[in-house]
Amino acid sequence: MEALMAIPSVPDLGPAQLVARSGGRLLFPFNRAGLELTYLGRNAVWRAAKQLGLEGWEVIVPAYHHGVEIAALLHAGARLRFARVDASGRLDPEDVRSRVGPRTRAIYVIHYAGFPQPVDALGEIARECGAFLIEDCALSLFSHGDGRPLGSRGDAAIFCFYKTLPVPHGGGLLMREVRATGLEAPAPPPLLPTLSHMAGSMLVSAERHSGGLGRWLRTVAKSFTGHVRARARREDIPVGTQEFDPGVAHLGMSAVAARTLRCVDAEQVVRRRRANWLLLHERIGRPDRATWSALPPGVCPLFYALEVDDKDRALRLLWSRGIQAVDFWRSGHPAASCERFPEVEALRRRVVELPCHQALGPEELEQVARVAREALKA
Ligand SMILES: Cc1ncc(COP(=O)(O)O)c(C=O)c1O
Repeated sequence: MEALMAIPSVPDLGPAQLVARSGGRLLFPFNRAGLELTYLGRNAVWRAAKQLGLEGWEVIVPAYHHGVEIAALLHAGARLRFARVDASGRLDPEDVRSRVGPRTRAIYVIHYAGFPQPVDALGEIARECGAFLIEDCALSLFSHGDGRPLGSRGDAAIFCFYKTLPVPHGGGLLMREVRATGLEAPAPPPLLPTLSHMAGSMLVSAERHSGGLGRWLRTVAKSFTGHVRARARREDIPVGTQEFDPGVAHLGMSAVAARTLRCVDAEQVVRRRRANWLLLHERIGRPDRATWSALPPGVCPLFYALEVDDKDRALRLLWSRGIQAVDFWRSGHPAASCERFPEVEALRRRVVELPCHQALGPEELEQVARVAREALKA
């Protein structure tokens, strides 16, 4: 019987990541003045739409999307037109062009899982029709395309830090040009849930790295902090939901979580994620089942996208072996009709997100690859 070892979908927080690094290079977007830190990426989408004045105007958005970015745009008053994404996850510039109309004010592009979209072609269409280009980099922090950071070409760039880094929440907005809108600066979120999530993540890390002792520490911490954790749960503002909550759209990132961002060794994160992706790719050995079947230079992969015939069964198998694989984007926003986009419908039905993050070691990756191969056989 194979030993059960939990393999988390996101990196946990080790003590080294709380120590400020001296002399380390800050990578984009952290090296840009004007990066606004928000509680969630969706708050950044909403703020970008407000700053660009999209209310009442049309925005061309990809048919393959999470759903909450669409909800944030709609809440800011934008009208949406959905465009084709092909089977390889590429937003089709010709289809985008065909949807441009007199009310088009922005083209919204999502760089999926760290892999760059054709921003040159999309930027040209935006320029030709006098529209803004918005780059959604929620899934592509630290990634590059054609030698340039993703998010550096658009009029606005959206980020979501907690998907890549061990922080409990956090999004970002970078505007090419800051516009006066009367929007207030983001307000700090409640502190207790932030501290509670960070402590929890550190205890998970201790358990993963020091086995019995870490498990003991976690049990002891749990038994002495019940009332504090209950209060933290009451005050918590959840992340990762599919709904846009206007009641928390004004919130920013907590100072303690933002400090962790500055301690990150971004170059190491990129190196490890790339090496882990390549290892999975080699060990799974089915490039025909990878949505992105090669890793171009500069890409910082968020996860390994594996296409399976029976997603429910594959996920059940992965979860039963302790692998926190994610059901990637099974459904989109109800405003988009999948029937008009068969390739998107197939991606939604087939893509499973396998972890390849920086906190995973070779043994864990071997286990992910082994179970993934089994899932493909089944
Ligand atoms: C493409 C995309 N944009 C924006 C967001 C919003 O990020 P957040 O969950 O931080 O609000 C998400 C969330 O999954 C996303 O997938």
